Amino acid sequence: MLLLGIETSCDDTATAVVRDGRTVLANVSTNQDAFHTKFGGIVPEIASRQHLALLSAAVQDALERAGAGIDELDGIAVTAGPGLVGSLVIGVATAKALAFATGKPLYAVNHLHGHIFAAYLERDAEPEYPFLALLVSGGHSQLVHVDSPVAMRVVARTRDDAAGEAFDKTARLLGLPFPGGPGIDRLARSGNPHAVDFPRHRAERDSLDMSFSGVKTAVKYFLESEAGRAAAPADVAASFQAAVVDVLIDRLGRAAQRAPYRAAVLSGGVAANSALQATFKAWSERTGIPGFIPALRYCTDNAAMIAAAADRQGAAVHADPLTVAADPNLPFVLPVSTILG
Ligand code: KG4
Ligand code: ZN
Repeated sequence: MLLLGIETSCDDTATAVVRDGRTVLANVSTNQDAFHTKFGGIVPEIASRQHLALLSAAVQDALERAGAGIDELDGIAVTAGPGLVGSLVIGVATAKALAFATGKPLYAVNHLHGHIFAAYLERDAEPEYPFLALLVSGGHSQLVHVDSPVAMRVVARTRDDAAGEAFDKTARLLGLPFPGGPGIDRLARSGNPHAVDFPRHRAERDSLDMSFSGVKTAVKYFLESEAGRAAAPADVAASFQAAVVDVLIDRLGRAAQRAPYRAAVLSGGVAANSALQATFKAWSERTGIPGFIPALRYCTDNAAMIAAAADRQGAAVHADPLTVAADPNLPFVLPVSTILG
């Protein structure tokens, strides 16, 4: 199946052409960071206006790079939610128009499912079911039990900030530009992760949920203290990063004991983090559960992952171009009626 993917849930205007949910013929992403960085975060109004300005050209660009005419496509896959509503509607309206005009099938994909199926892009080996997915991005931190492409459930989530959000807020405290994850990652490489003992959120009773607002606040108070003013920023970055990674891998390990998982997937923008990747790989080796991490360009938001999810979910996400709508709160679990057809 040859699919065009469109992703505009947040601030990346992304398009892709993917064959069989695996082979990426084109992957186009126009990052809007330059427009948002001076505000220290994403401004929704600016994001949707940028999508509007960039998306048509991005669709053409992906088709050209793939050497494919629009008539050769087997369908159009678009992120229907969750995300910023003003951003989502630009992608959904564009995909609807394309599907309606060409008569091609339209697939309405959940952005978080996309992050999971990023693990299948340009890889020979695939995670076997059931697998556990750790999704860590700027908007989400959750563990997902995946039985099949259409049967998945969230088994743990953050109670407050997403891991990426904690990176972004802490980076701001350290005077690093938005988005903060890459800056902290880089700075932490020359720092000592044991320099400051920042608090780790503990698992509560039977819950696998996590929390990251405490560690961010601890960094804030530390930086205001005498010891903090004297501390090397690299040490603070490395210690903060270690605290976040510890919590994520702790919950991953606990969740993995609850079902006979045959694989684990680490995905989302924060999966680009070098310390998290190293700790995840070490955990995988220790437990013997095969670990999968998408290539960096497929960890952060992209449209190839949306096409990959649509390819595997097929009829369950097939949508009517006249009625489908963007849904900023799109439920994670697919309705039973669509799964059964
Ligand atoms: O998946 P993504 O591109 O967008 C969302 O769906 O949110 O994730 C963006 C998040 C940002 O918070 C960014 O700071 C974080 O991923 N991030 C990182 C790294 N690269 C990106 N966090 C930690 N270390 C990194 N190397
Ligand atoms: Zn994302």
